[in-house]
Amino acid sequence: MRSLRLRLVPLLAIAAVLCLLSLPSRRSPPPEPPLPCGAAPSDATAGRWVPTPEPVPAPLYTVSCPFHRGSYNCLRNGRPPLAPLSWAPARCGGAVVLRIDPAAFLAAARGRRVGLVGDSLSENLAVALLCALRSADPDARRWKRRGAWRGWYFPRDDVTVAFHRTVLLAKYTWQPVENPEEIQKDGIKGIYRVDVDIPDDEWINVTKFYDVLIFNTGHWWVTYKFPKETPLVFYKDGKPIEPPLSIPDGLKLVLKTMASYIDREPPEHDAEAMAHAVA
Ligand SMILES: *[C@@H]1O[C@H](CO)[C@@H](O)[C@H](O)[C@H]1NC(C)=O
Repeated sequence: MRSLRLRLVPLLAIAAVLCLLSLPSRRSPPPEPPLPCGAAPSDATAGRWVPTPEPVPAPLYTVSCPFHRGSYNCLRNGRPPLAPLSWAPARCGGAVVLRIDPAAFLAAARGRRVGLVGDSLSENLAVALLCALRSADPDARRWKRRGAWRGWYFPRDDVTVAFHRTVLLAKYTWQPVENPEEIQKDGIKGIYRVDVDIPDDEWINVTKFYDVLIFNTGHWWVTYKFPKETPLVFYKDGKPIEPPLSIPDGLKLVLKTMASYIDREPPEHDAEAMAHAVA
């Protein structure tokens, strides 16, 4: 049973998605190269975007896909469609990672629950995945559970995909300066307190529910999101960390503490996944 456990590993979302995309093709790996194009960990980072080779398949991510949140529906909001691109890992000698096979993906994920945890990049990835999967299961329906920002259920293979929004992964709270005179002195209007050892409310209690969790953070760890008038201040065990950490060092520490939280909170869904695998 342990061997079936899908460990929760925080990964860059793109890396994880590339791994997931490779699941169907693992069934019949070609003798050379040893791993299918897109399946090696380095494939996620070493490579480049190229025009999708002809014939370009009809898009799965379309204006009619019902999963977009209002302003995120670029096509409906009048943005021109982008030229189709494919990822060509450096290792693959010019070959590109094949597009997701939605039916094979659902079959490979049968009985499983997949959660994406992160900022709007995760939301876009979740929507792209949902739009693709829906093409293989038109009975997909909205799924809501307390704490899940948004989810969908695919009855064909009993697969759930949901998204939890969090920008820093760790919990953070706005704390305005109490004495307005202080603002004039140093220009600081308040701080965003980041508790590096506490996961954000959005996902702290959901890890046991999922079989696969895909984490993403990074986009918000910059000074234009948190300028010096409203900085991030890192806390551990309820106290400010001294000396104060820079944003990049805070990010490193949060990745470490969140990974150890995930290791302590493995999914409880193994038995169910096992039952499906046996059936
Ligand atoms: C998470 O679960 C714990 C224990 O049941 C509870 O005390 C806490 O309020 C929950 N937190 C959130 C954000 O749901």
